[in-house]
Amino acid sequence: MSGPTVWKTPAEVRAWVRSVQQRGQRIALVPTMGFLHDGHLSLMREGARRADVVVASIFVNPMQFGPKEDLSSYPRDTEGDLARCASAGVVGVYMPEPSTMYPPGFQTAVLVEQVSQGLDGEKRPGHFRGVATVVAKLLALFRPDVALFGEKDYQQLQVIARLNADLELGAQIVGMPTIREPDGLAMSSRNSYLGPDERRRALGLSRGLFAAQALAAKGEADVARLVAVIRAELAAVQAREDYVEICDARSLVKLTQLEKGSPARVLVAAFMGTTRLIDNVALTLG
Ligand code: PAJ
Repeated sequence: MSGPTVWKTPAEVRAWVRSVQQRGQRIALVPTMGFLHDGHLSLMREGARRADVVVASIFVNPMQFGPKEDLSSYPRDTEGDLARCASAGVVGVYMPEPSTMYPPGFQTAVLVEQVSQGLDGEKRPGHFRGVATVVAKLLALFRPDVALFGEKDYQQLQVIARLNADLELGAQIVGMPTIREPDGLAMSSRNSYLGPDERRRALGLSRGLFAAQALAAKGEADVARLVAVIRAELAAVQAREDYVEICDARSLVKLTQLEKGSPARVLVAAFMGTTRLIDNVALTLG
């Protein structure tokens, strides 16, 4: 089986996009940073269902990493990634160099004002500025009919939906459910940093979230009590909390009380050793 076409420059992508549009075909785009797992592949397969052709980008985006974060150690596996893309039906992969994405003189940024604040926006200053800028560039370049993102990065999904609407980029933004390991841990490229003991203890995040979800379903509306349940699970596995918050599912405004009929989301970030993990689930008051 021949692998996907690899594009290295925006000019190559533009030429391809033009030819596809001339044929009247619909494009689905899945932006990634590579080291692909089943979570990424679920987005690609859904893209293949929703459009005529599905393409991906693999770009470890320096602009979204803080100075003390893991840009230089971020895991990479180009050969394996291209094989996984092919298995999910991806016909082309955009893999620009950082100097192609951000050539000398580059000075434009996309800032999504409200939904970027709090949570990861507060804990990782500049992160969503980098995400919004690179995703806006990718949407403007590919002009996809559909672009797919994971709920795993829930705040990111809301930021991207907002910028796509505000900049009139015209894609349908599709959010896809979090794919988990059999024991419940949310799949993440960063799970590869975990040692065996950390990997076992990392389960405290999803365990806490699911416990809170079950309590809410049974009628617990008090956010402080739901948060306490999650903190207890984090403490039990010696995870260091970065945040645990319950927010309105759309605006991400913090809640103190769940209400019947208003969708809420509980989001957690915690360190297992030096590895920062995030996860979230929906909360519905029963
Ligand atoms: P990355 O972490 O590689 O994730 C790429 C896409 O896969 C994102 O939409 C993310 O939410 C989704 N994803 C990751 N883990 C998932 C899981 N377990 N289940 C379902 N979907 C999952 O997110 C980024 O890259 C970058 O910030 C990017 C959007 C590419 C901009 O640089």
